[in-house]
Amino acid sequence: MIKMKEIKAGNMNLDKFINDKVQAIQQAVGDGLAVNALSGGVDSCVVTALGHRALGNRLKTYMIDNGIMRENEPAKVVAAFKKLGIKVEVVDASKAFFTALKGITDPEEKREAITQTFYKNVFGKLVVKSKAKYLLQGTILTDVDETVAGIKRQHNVFEQLGIDPQKTFGYKILEPLIELRKDGVRKVGAGLGLPARMFERIPFPGPALAARVIGEVTPAKIALVRKATSITEAALKDVKAFQYLAILHEDRVTGMRNNKRVFGNQIEIRCWNSKDARTASPTRLSFDVLEKIASKITREIPEVVSVTYNITSKPTSTIEVV
Ligand code: XMP
Repeated sequence: MIKMKEIKAGNMNLDKFINDKVQAIQQAVGDGLAVNALSGGVDSCVVTALGHRALGNRLKTYMIDNGIMRENEPAKVVAAFKKLGIKVEVVDASKAFFTALKGITDPEEKREAITQTFYKNVFGKLVVKSKAKYLLQGTILTDVDETVAGIKRQHNVFEQLGIDPQKTFGYKILEPLIELRKDGVRKVGAGLGLPARMFERIPFPGPALAARVIGEVTPAKIALVRKATSITEAALKDVKAFQYLAILHEDRVTGMRNNKRVFGNQIEIRCWNSKDARTASPTRLSFDVLEKIASKITREIPEVVSVTYNITSKPTSTIEVV
């Protein structure tokens, strides 16, 4: 098992870190080409900006629309990067992801299906098409820790598990943020001059909304959890929490609509206080806020009859549900 070096946000020499990583990327790629996938999450935004500083047009950035993103995410992210002078090409791959997820209910199998679709199917083809030899990605130390410890297989961890990306997928992977945790990544985002709303966003996982659907992931369930996510994010955007999310439960519960008994869906809200995602505790939201979220969700999503709030810490919980 490879022991990773950690650079703590508080000890980081920001200019030196950025310069060292820019040089390392330039050295690795030489006069060749690299690609990267921008998901809109904090880590991928920061690594995209860092990669473009190092390689300019020799880094081609794709946004893989996997069908499991948040509302309007591809268009929003493309527009935000256009303002920074970085061109992002959207690749519609939603069919491939939903096909791979069909019938799978086990959490680790779901994660594996997403990983294989992303790295082998979608990116394998893009790398061949673009003639790039490197994939630049924003893996951070917390992803590695939890994967190596066997807690959760994060979608972007390979070498630490003994998987050689060159042999398995046909390209090399560069991970300039791998010594950092989330607080360090945010500092690098600020150092690169990204707009604060980009690196101050709440974290969003690689497996996207599929990490928030218990049981089989279908287009209908994703559409439902996507609506609940929008409502939750809008309601909690001014709460100073580390991360907040909505989860679609598999169990149905009895509810009432128009004086009739219905067997409906249940949404769970989670809102976390945390520094680096390794441990977390539920934010003590006011009941007013919680009730507003519940009534908006049940008003705007007819299938949902019940909304709950998680009051468990990590551990024993994890931040996402899958
Ligand atoms: P968990 O659910 O493991 O999440 O407590 C810890 C942090 O990591 C994010 N997360 C992921 N990030 N790939 C990622 O890049 C993944 O597969 C993944 N799974 C969870 C999660 O949102 C939280 O911030």
